Amino acid sequence: MKKINLIAITIIFALLLSSCESTQVAGEIGTNTAAQKPSSSASVDEPSPDAYGQGSVIVRPDDGRTVVGISMPDKLLERWNHDGIFLKEHFEKEGCEVVLKYANNLIDTQINDIRSMIDEGADLLVITAVDGAALSSILGKAKSQGIKIVAYDRLLMNSDAVDYYVSYDNYKVGVLQAEYIIAALGLKDSKDSKNIEFVTGDPVDNNARYFYQGAVDTLFPYLENGKLKVISNQQGFYDTSTAQWSSDIAQQRLQIILNSYYPENVRLDAVLCANDSTALGATRAIDSDYAGTNKVIVTGQDADVPNIYNIIEGKQSMTVFKALRDESVVAVALGLALLADDSPDGQLIANSGWNFDCTYNTTDYDNGSKVVPSFLLSPITITKDNLEKELFDTGYYSRNRAGLIYAVE
Ligand code: BGC
Repeated sequence: MKKINLIAITIIFALLLSSCESTQVAGEIGTNTAAQKPSSSASVDEPSPDAYGQGSVIVRPDDGRTVVGISMPDKLLERWNHDGIFLKEHFEKEGCEVVLKYANNLIDTQINDIRSMIDEGADLLVITAVDGAALSSILGKAKSQGIKIVAYDRLLMNSDAVDYYVSYDNYKVGVLQAEYIIAALGLKDSKDSKNIEFVTGDPVDNNARYFYQGAVDTLFPYLENGKLKVISNQQGFYDTSTAQWSSDIAQQRLQIILNSYYPENVRLDAVLCANDSTALGATRAIDSDYAGTNKVIVTGQDADVPNIYNIIEGKQSMTVFKALRDESVVAVALGLALLADDSPDGQLIANSGWNFDCTYNTTDYDNGSKVVPSFLLSPITITKDNLEKELFDTGYYSRNRAGLIYAVE
């Protein structure tokens, strides 16, 4: 195992400023960190060198290299492209060699990717799984060779080889989507009932269940008292799931629902979509197959560029934003600590100087083999009203001279 010079690390941590909350969060799925203040103060100034230990001296006692393998699920969804770039850049700044691979949403490809990273001498693996439960054996192999493993954004299931998990508070994402719907439909005060449909995520992605649970727990009182109805009767997680988070699959499913259950006189008020790729499919289905004329509330997650346009045009109502750059900063700080044979805890946050909220959680993310210590960031709701302030004024997104929106890298 190669090590980062411990003296350098000590100096770096001594320099780190403390501004980020460190909270031990109790509870299980359903007892979440929703009480956390959304990180509206987050900014995208290049993280200070101290934020992830830039400048640390890497001592490479065995083969003279410190290799980080980054295994991402696919390039189709906008976000993983950015995550890959951010992680690679940050680790390279630290003097690490980076092997970055995308698995094209295929389990076997991801297993081969990880195998080749191990063969290339990886010291640390940062993995976002295509299927969280399908990697146990290759993770076991990595662990047996002393390789540290960070589950990035999606939890790696059924494996005790996973050292840490870095993500946004997944349950809270669903809570924010549901809270938006409750407010937009005025459910608290309304006497009428409203109709909602669910378009949830990929069942092999552990996050999808958390998004769903956060939303359903929050909507539960209204589903219970009949103020919210699901006319299709498709309400369970599997019934409403979307393989591979595919826009096309989401679109086809909603088209069938609209044609089967929503003739001209039946109004659809909201579609709870777990993320932006599913929201794209839902808005297309509404455009093509909804007989009504009312504006249907559509939720999302990720602030993908096409969805930002849809929010501006009023086709999508909200998205939940998770600053990927911040998530990668946390993963790199954690990775560097692991490479130094450290066992980071909430102190990593306390010492970080990060200007965004992050909590250390040792209770909520049980992967079936162990409770994986987790660093969780806090997502925020984006609507037409705060989009300029939260996405553009902060520098996460910009417009080119032709006025076209792009995510800043
Ligand atoms: C991520 C979301 C993303 C989805 C589809 C989830 O695991 O947390 O941000 O939209 O995967 O890629």
